Amino acid sequence: MSQEKLLEMTRSLVEHGKADTMELVDEVMAVSASDYTDEDRFEQEKERIFKRLPLMVAPSCELPEPGCYKAMDIAGIPVLVTRQKDGSAQAFLNSCTHRGNPVAQGSGKATRFTCGYHGWTFKNDGDLLAVASPKDFGKVDKAAFCLQKFPTLERAGLIWATLDPQSTLDMEAYLCGYDEMLDHFGFKDWHLFQQRTLPGPNWKTAYDGYLDFYHLPVLHKDTFGSDFFNRANYFFWGPHQRLASPSKFAQKTGSDEELDLTEMEEKDWPIDALMQGVWTIFPHISIASFYGGGGRGAMISQLFPGKTVSESFTTQFYVMEYEPTDDAVRQGAHDQFAFLETVVAEEDYKTGKRQHESLQSGLIDKVWFGRNEGGGQAFHQWVNKLVEADEEELNRIFAPQLQAAE
Ligand code: FES
Ligand SMILES: [Fe+2]
Repeated sequence: MSQEKLLEMTRSLVEHGKADTMELVDEVMAVSASDYTDEDRFEQEKERIFKRLPLMVAPSCELPEPGCYKAMDIAGIPVLVTRQKDGSAQAFLNSCTHRGNPVAQGSGKATRFTCGYHGWTFKNDGDLLAVASPKDFGKVDKAAFCLQKFPTLERAGLIWATLDPQSTLDMEAYLCGYDEMLDHFGFKDWHLFQQRTLPGPNWKTAYDGYLDFYHLPVLHKDTFGSDFFNRANYFFWGPHQRLASPSKFAQKTGSDEELDLTEMEEKDWPIDALMQGVWTIFPHISIASFYGGGGRGAMISQLFPGKTVSESFTTQFYVMEYEPTDDAVRQGAHDQFAFLETVVAEEDYKTGKRQHESLQSGLIDKVWFGRNEGGGQAFHQWVNKLVEADEEELNRIFAPQLQAAE
């Protein structure tokens, strides 16, 4: 079914490309400037979006084998993600059950974690293995002192966690079938080549840029944008959306040659053409794929709110279909990744910082999203809807049976 959906989207992109059109939404939409700058609003977004919804915490290839782990901070919550003995991924609150010190730092491989404060030891499945000086400490029911688990789901080579141990939200239903689409990348067998973390502006200011092709030939004219049109059609699975350029052309796999899709049989359309564009995962992921070094590559950008309303940080994962085996390919991938860092840091995020500062002047009350910016419109509508939703409403929005009926 997801294969048919890919063909259907490509057909629509080809038709719009032939007609030199794009899909437009009904109205131009305004968003209040204070939605970006208000500190109370920012706190609400952390509480209601980042601490309630499933977040993509790691690509599976970041934790390729049992024993791999990483520690991270998300909206002030210390998180530990491990690959357990049975191969499954699990996210925990990275906080020792003795007095709260984080049990792991950074990333690496470990079957157990010894807390650096008094030495309690936990297995990488969260079980408390040993209390330091147990006779002196007093009686402890070990089973009641495991690391707290967060609901975790691994699909399409990506790991999601909901940072609320009591969450009743159905994680699969939240994905709205989008994981089946993402599965066409085949990320579960890919290789993590490099990763880095960049500072950025307000998280929504930064994320708007990932939902926007309108700016490509202007802001990025000196780097890569001059080759791009500024149009995108948007395809939705609940709050998750793909952006793709309406065009009848696609690049031939591994070359600069262009294919005219209207002159080919659909069954011969290459997978790159079917997957082109940017795949975003609400509320904070953007996946852009390309071809290089004998296989497909992708940059997965993972965005989190920072300490203040004016800050965010983004981890960029550069993943490759095949691990490079020779220096030329490795160098090529390295250069490509460095280039993408420069584009995002020097063009997108610098602009975002300036834009945010200007909104913070308080002298502009609204910003605008055109009929050609349906993706940004939908993103802000979803943020509003989910910030406003109470628990019951949230579960209703992502109820499994409702989605099956749709
Ligand atoms: S806080 Fe971890 S052992 Fe005391
Ligand atoms: Fe950009």
